[in-house]
Amino acid sequence: MLLAAGLLPAQSTDNLAQGKKLFQGHCGLCHGQTGTGGKGPSLAQPTLVHAPDDKALMRVIENGIRGTEMPGSFGLSENELANLAAYVARWAARL
Ligand code: HEC
Repeated sequence: MLLAAGLLPAQSTDNLAQGKKLFQGHCGLCHGQTGTGGKGPSLAQPTLVHAPDDKALMRVIENGIRGTEMPGSFGLSENELANLAAYVARWAARL
């Protein structure tokens, strides 16, 4: 299960707002604007195969998943990655 804690910055409203904006701009097209899936799989799952923890989630977003339609290289800073990961991890944490 994703913890969205530890290495991720404190989840201030600003951080989550940025994560949400980034998700809707870069990810919603494939994963659905609320993460429930579409062209890409639902991210609102208790566990993500390729992203068992926050750090892995950040790396998946940064690098994509080779050989699949999951792209990488969104050109995000480490901070933006962390905010995006925190936003995504919240869905898992709620399940
Ligand atoms: C062009 C479509 C597309 C876009 C854009 C995209 N993804 Fe994906 N994503 C996919 C597909 C397809 C997969 C499944 C890859 C596979 O077959 O394992 C995936 C897989 C993932 C996984 C792994 C899910 C699991 O269960 O392990 C995560 C996490 C993820 N995407 C997050 C993101 C985030 C965050 C963004 C925005 C920065 C994003 N994706 C943008 C298509 C996309």
